[in-house]
Amino acid sequence: MPSILIIGGGLAGLFAALKLAPHPCTLLSPAPLGEGASSAWAQGGIAAAIGEGDSVESHVADTLVAGAGLCDEAMVRLMASEASDRILDLLEFGVPFDRDLAGKLVQSREAAHSAHRIVRVKGDQAGKAIMAALVQAARAAPSINIIEGAEARELLVEAGVVTGARVRLKGADGALATAELRADATVLATGGIGQLYAVTTNPKESRGDGLAMAAKAGAEIANAEFVQFHPTAIDIGKDPAPLATEALRGEGATLVNNAGERFMLKLHKDAELAPRDVVARGVFAELVAGRRPALDATKAVGAHFPERFPSVYAACKAAGIDPVTQPIPVTPAEHYHMGGVKTDADGRSSLPGLFAIGEVACTGVHGANRLASNSLLEAVVFAARAAEAIKAMGPGGVVEMGTLRPAPEEPDSATGIAELRALMSRYLGVQRTGEGMAHAIGALQALRLGGGSAMLEDMALVALLIATSAYARYESRGGHFRTDFPNADPATQPSTAMPVAALDAFRPAR
Ligand code: FAD
Ligand code: SIN
Repeated sequence: MPSILIIGGGLAGLFAALKLAPHPCTLLSPAPLGEGASSAWAQGGIAAAIGEGDSVESHVADTLVAGAGLCDEAMVRLMASEASDRILDLLEFGVPFDRDLAGKLVQSREAAHSAHRIVRVKGDQAGKAIMAALVQAARAAPSINIIEGAEARELLVEAGVVTGARVRLKGADGALATAELRADATVLATGGIGQLYAVTTNPKESRGDGLAMAAKAGAEIANAEFVQFHPTAIDIGKDPAPLATEALRGEGATLVNNAGERFMLKLHKDAELAPRDVVARGVFAELVAGRRPALDATKAVGAHFPERFPSVYAACKAAGIDPVTQPIPVTPAEHYHMGGVKTDADGRSSLPGLFAIGEVACTGVHGANRLASNSLLEAVVFAARAAEAIKAMGPGGVVEMGTLRPAPEEPDSATGIAELRALMSRYLGVQRTGEGMAHAIGALQALRLGGGSAMLEDMALVALLIATSAYARYESRGGHFRTDFPNADPATQPSTAMPVAALDAFRPAR
């Protein structure tokens, strides 16, 4: 069995560690396990075609439509067909999915799904409950060496093979230190990129670290330009922005502006249940026009709000909004990255020794736009597959930690990071233009090469991977919408991001 280092303690990382058991692995989490991960905040649930009248083929078809022509169909079919087994695994790990009186799993419906297909927990508590069960199982598993307060900063590469990571962690004296952790298999499970945007639903740890490390090591990055904006983050100026789950619209909540107009009716036949990118653009247009979009659940959910959607209710009440009687102000927010480290069906990246699972990976299942609740599913399906592939790698040892050395002092880059996030929201957000992206690329290069902290440099690198890939896609498709190229180009293909060395020289034409 090889020595295994898992970087990230969200659903993907934890599930891989549990599926590897009893084989030993070391798992890093910057925050206490279960915190600092999008997985714990998931409100909708997990898509799985296990209900009566539903089928794997129907799940595949819905996923392909949402992906707008860029999904890898074989990978989608694999994911949809392994969903039921992974739900059984989660039940075995103790996840208390909702059941009806007959004991059958209850499934809700979300936008662009043609069936009630989402397994959930107590309305909007899916992520919290799944993570609580998995954290408990991981803490109880003697094979999993959990290091909390540890953040990977760089991959170790020898002769083209990834051999572990350089990690920043607290030493025994409490001071920040760095150390090398050597492994035969290094698994990136670092989640999304939300913190590159001024408005996001993602936790502060979602900075795209895994993408930066992989790109710098020379791994192939695919579809970086495809970023998903959730249409209904709660607009109360909080960072991260709390989410008002799509399931509310599934229950009949409507989107209205300050004139009381249900604006989605004129934009799409499915109105509030149109694909996520369409709804995000609808909400965005109202916002920039100053018509204050809001989600009105007063009739569809009303007095049932507190027990049906406890997380959303608590977030609203904390901001002085009573969603039982008042519409919830909403804004589009960066929510999910379809692009990532390109992997095969077993989570292998283009670099030997390096695997990627969960949101940091690009398996090809989401194409240009992810179908709701397919992300938790992708995380468990490909984490399990990567675990099997790693087990088959042959003998090795346990992860050894090298000498702890004092971590170098870093300059404070708060101003640069705020500038980067504003640039991304303005020029690489819901609507893009060639001119805007060209401006952003110049400004991001300046931030990256301007001598700020390593964190700012890495964030700017990932922002540039997104911006240059988006700039080079002369069409609109899924999460990538350009007002200067508003139509899809039928000849389109998935994209490969520029290698880091080429990025240095890239100067867009204005
Ligand atoms: P995460 O759960 O984000 O975990 C990443 C881990 O990596 C964290 O522990 C993080 O701290 C750690 N990390 C980051 N950088 C480093 C580093 N340098 N070194 C070490 N560790 C690092 N999807 C669905 O399918 N259904 C839903 O209902 C749903 N609802 C959502 C609601 C919200 C509010 C959000 C934000 C997302 C939602 N999503 C949903 C998307 C889904 O939650 C995520 O895509 C998924 O949880 C990603 O899992 P992950 O394990 O890849 O990443
Ligand atoms: C939501 O509950 O609206 C989010 C679901 C998802 O991101 O898949």
